[in-house]
Amino acid sequence: MKLIHTIAELRAALAGQPRRAFVPTMGNLHEGHLALVRQARVAVGAEGAVIASIFVNRLQFAPHEDFDTYPRTLTRDAELLQAAGCDYLFAPSEAELYPEPQGYKLQPPTELADILEGHFRPGFFTGVCTVVHKLFNIVQPTLAVFGKKDYQQLMVIRRMVAQMALPVQILAGETARSEQGLALSSRNGYLSEAERAEALRLSRTLKELIAGWRAGQRDVAALEAAALQQLSAHGWQPDYVCLRRQLDLGAPAEGQPLVALAAAKLGKTRLIDNLEL
Ligand code: PAJ
Repeated sequence: MKLIHTIAELRAALAGQPRRAFVPTMGNLHEGHLALVRQARVAVGAEGAVIASIFVNRLQFAPHEDFDTYPRTLTRDAELLQAAGCDYLFAPSEAELYPEPQGYKLQPPTELADILEGHFRPGFFTGVCTVVHKLFNIVQPTLAVFGKKDYQQLMVIRRMVAQMALPVQILAGETARSEQGLALSSRNGYLSEAERAEALRLSRTLKELIAGWRAGQRDVAALEAAALQQLSAHGWQPDYVCLRRQLDLGAPAEGQPLVALAAAKLGKTRLIDNLEL
């Protein structure tokens, strides 16, 4: 695997490679990221190039969020990527990707980007879309893989690709979890041992919400309120627990595929998770 830090070097390395599968990340890689890389390899075949990026994107962090403390573990990440079958790791500096303040930004539509995550993290999806669009322009992938762990992000990216007619196919990777069900996340490293055990409650709460719906309860507000209450009672500060349509994250409707989504803070760590029905 080749480690590349500049746009020019990456473009030169990929010249003449018509099949490119891309996995953008912010590093501190875990099995969830690596599964996306392996999925990229399968999708593009042995002849194709698999490219991963590691860039902690300042644009998608609010001033009070964890940009400065976000774990940066490039040496270990590079070893893991190589073992997972990645060909190129693009790890630009901030000066390389944002040589001047990024004044041009890609703003996603409010109905998709100002709800749920976007409501609690204003500007988050503008930051994500701007960097992903820029990375797509640099890498020019034929396909890119995103995890369902960030369900709304995947949806926002799919819509961006469709509306901007970007020539890239988006593939979704399933959420990788610990044996007990905790969705893997770079932010899990912030958790104390006791919090790590408690963190399992997030996916359990989503399961219970879904069980309630499956049992015929149709008062969605009551289901969501019970889930919020369950988290609060155990020391969490929940942002939201919601049951939504998979299609567009709109209000749930009978006979349509649904997804339960949650975001909550446990101590100083903000965790998100979701489960499809
Ligand atoms: P990051 O949080 O590093 O995640 C990179 C990719 O890995 C995303 O597509 C995310 O959905 C996926 N991922 C994370 N945890 C996962 C898990 N447990 N199972 C499966 N996939 C998982 O998401 C970002 O970075 C950034 O917003 C980015 C898209 C790179 C733009 O800066």
